[in-house]
Amino acid sequence: MSTQIIRPARSLSGSLTVPGDKSISHRYAMLAGLAEGTSRLTNFSTGADPHSSLSCMESLGATVVRNDDGTIDVTGVAGAFRQPTVALDCGNSGSTMRMLSGLIASHPHTFTLIGDASLTVRPMERIRKPLSQMGAKMDLVEGHAPITIHGGPLHAIDFTTPIPSAQVKTAVLFAGLQAEGTTSLSEAIRTRDHSEHALRAFGATLTRSEASANQPAKLSILGGQRLKAINATVPGDISSAAFFLCAALLFPDANLVLDSLGMNPTRAALLDVIAALGGKIKILSVEEHNGEMIGTIQVNRAPDAASSAPFVIGGALTAQVIDELPALAAIAPYTANGLIIRDAQELRVKESDRIALVAKNLSAMGAKFTENPDGLEIPGGQSLHGAAIDSGDDHRIAMAFSIAALRASGETEIHGAESARISFPEFYTSLDALAQR
Ligand code: S3P
Repeated sequence: MSTQIIRPARSLSGSLTVPGDKSISHRYAMLAGLAEGTSRLTNFSTGADPHSSLSCMESLGATVVRNDDGTIDVTGVAGAFRQPTVALDCGNSGSTMRMLSGLIASHPHTFTLIGDASLTVRPMERIRKPLSQMGAKMDLVEGHAPITIHGGPLHAIDFTTPIPSAQVKTAVLFAGLQAEGTTSLSEAIRTRDHSEHALRAFGATLTRSEASANQPAKLSILGGQRLKAINATVPGDISSAAFFLCAALLFPDANLVLDSLGMNPTRAALLDVIAALGGKIKILSVEEHNGEMIGTIQVNRAPDAASSAPFVIGGALTAQVIDELPALAAIAPYTANGLIIRDAQELRVKESDRIALVAKNLSAMGAKFTENPDGLEIPGGQSLHGAAIDSGDDHRIAMAFSIAALRASGETEIHGAESARISFPEFYTSLDALAQR
């Protein structure tokens, strides 16, 4: 297990291109693997998780070629996955395990999906329920992986997601694409819509009826549609950029330019949160690729405003910034007014119990806060000191506290820092380049 020592910084400045979005890379890998023809994927995530999805696609019969220029060519199985000869190893990736289950459930083979120690204790009943309603035969072990799927024909369902989860939504849409009939899906709280854009980009028809007073929005997908290969560029990952957006809040003269950044509206609420916590964000350009927005932004710190109430992240906003909450919580003590996080019980079943680990590490750095079952209340205006940080081998905890360490007094030791490779292997190199010391 590697340890990184983080020294305090004077400021943060420079420009940065973050690796391709993890969520979008998973979806492109899986849909390219199922499609007919060869897809060329540019700026595919360098994180280990989307590469777990690519490896599973290879085990299922797709051909994956990693080119020297960083592009990835995926030749799909034209709608017919083959019987894998090995277990499908999803590594640390909940996205791979949940979305892949929906993608493969209609294929007439037996599949075993396995993962690492963290993934093996994460809840999987949430996908078994809708997929078994569609006719899938899935065995879990006490609600967890390893998962065995006895594939076979599926039929459409009308499903309402009980928890805000883009992974559950995607499992149902991917299964619905290959089921008999039209599958409908409603979500009370809207989650990231990369699957909807990706399905359309690969040629599927998907309709969305807007929400009315007493009905949430509904997605519908007709089964039996065939996908065609595409050439696609993955936008930069806003959840990786989040660490540096948070770092920019820590220094009065911070100046950061982020280019090729994914700015999908279902992910970009983070920018509003950064602005509410004292950031000044200028959008320099935006364009669209395959339904996804890609832009360049400049981030500075706004002049300190008069003290007011803490900023509250709750309800729908919590779901929209769920992956960025560890970073926001880690820097919250340094903000002028502090932060209250509510409705975030899902954080307890991510790669780690992220509420408990944030609390443990904030305590280690000397912060005052209150831990609640569904979040944290963190007053602003605090000074922290360097400490030994337990990342719990969770990439987002390691990176969040590496950022908090930039404004602490003394050095901070990040234990399990190599977990950053799950989503952002270049993180520590980028941090060294941008932190002014
Ligand atoms: C993801 C959805 C979210 C998020 C995860 C990636 C996705 O999880 O936390 O990191 O790519 O769809 P849930 O679907 O469990 O909310």
